[in-house]
Amino acid sequence: MILEKLRGVRVSGLGKSLPQKVLTNKDLENMVNTSDQWITTRTGIKERRITAIDESSSTLALRAAREALQKAGIKPEHLDLIIVATTTPDMLFPSTACLVQAGLGAQKAAAFDLEAACSGFIYASAVGSQFVATGMFEYVLVVGVDTLSKFVDWEDRSTCVLFGDAAAAAVLEPAPCGQGFLSFVLGADGSGCDYLKMPAGGSLLPPSHETVAAKLHTIKMKGNEVFRFAVKAMAEAALESLTCAGLRVDELDLLIPHQANYRIIESVRKRIGVLSEKVFVNLEKYGNTSAASVPLALSEAVEEGYIREGSKVVLTAFGAGFTWAACTIRW
Ligand code: UT7
Repeated sequence: MILEKLRGVRVSGLGKSLPQKVLTNKDLENMVNTSDQWITTRTGIKERRITAIDESSSTLALRAAREALQKAGIKPEHLDLIIVATTTPDMLFPSTACLVQAGLGAQKAAAFDLEAACSGFIYASAVGSQFVATGMFEYVLVVGVDTLSKFVDWEDRSTCVLFGDAAAAAVLEPAPCGQGFLSFVLGADGSGCDYLKMPAGGSLLPPSHETVAAKLHTIKMKGNEVFRFAVKAMAEAALESLTCAGLRVDELDLLIPHQANYRIIESVRKRIGVLSEKVFVNLEKYGNTSAASVPLALSEAVEEGYIREGSKVVLTAFGAGFTWAACTIRW
């Protein structure tokens, strides 16, 4: 295709979905050797949501997708593409995006999953917006969803207190140039793969009695290393994204960082040099919801009136891989 001019791309509707079950820090005190005081002071998390036994990533994704479509005023049959960012698909194949496509009845939409861990929603928005910008597609649905509670070792206090389940979705559509997404920054460093991973269940270590007995189907993390990496990567990506968008830090209206740990967010804020009141935080209610974290925060920031037409917003995230990503949006 010969491209004469790229179109602008904006978010026209957002939706979210949270499991009903709330797991508080007090509940965790009865499960592992931890305390509300340790979790609150070391992470900022007070409670998280846990999927029911009959819920999965696709059930949460579907609910969030329906709300996003309704807010955007788009019918499922108008969708051209569905991208689901997740590290916890319903199964290895088919993709969760195909399950969402079927659930919505979005007959003409292409569908695929994208795996970039907690950076997944920004990665998927970058990919989806290319199709809209070039004119190939009109409406793209991007979903960030994870149900990490299903892959946590509930006897490992260093990880089980951190994660929660959620989905959030965004509809992307054409916009006048200069509106919507102004820049994307994406990065990866695969040499960090051992710091945060679920070792078994793939082609390297397929499921076996041994892998189950060794708990290799649960999250393994070296928290301190991930922490250090996260601060640097999120701050640098956010600053680069702002620069690419031609904006200064003082012109930023709202920073929405990946919601993993309040201390990480605070360090990123200081590195960037932005005021506390310009940083959106909701991790106390949900913990780290991985690929859902950034769109869930974005959705709540819009609902709560922190973002209005014309607001300049930066999203920034990091995750397993390592991956990192940021984008700047003029709302
Ligand atoms: O989306 C990306 C996902 N990952 C992350 O964002 C995680 C990034 N890392 C972190 O957020 C932090 O490193 C943690 C919250 C995971 C850990 O905080 P920390 O301040 O780095 O603690 P630590 O790992 O250095 O552990 C300090 C102490 C240790 O005890 P000793 O060895 O000093 O006696 C741990 O065993 O805290 C202990 N500890 C706990 N104590 C009570 C670890 N987890 C817990 C717990 N409750 N849940």
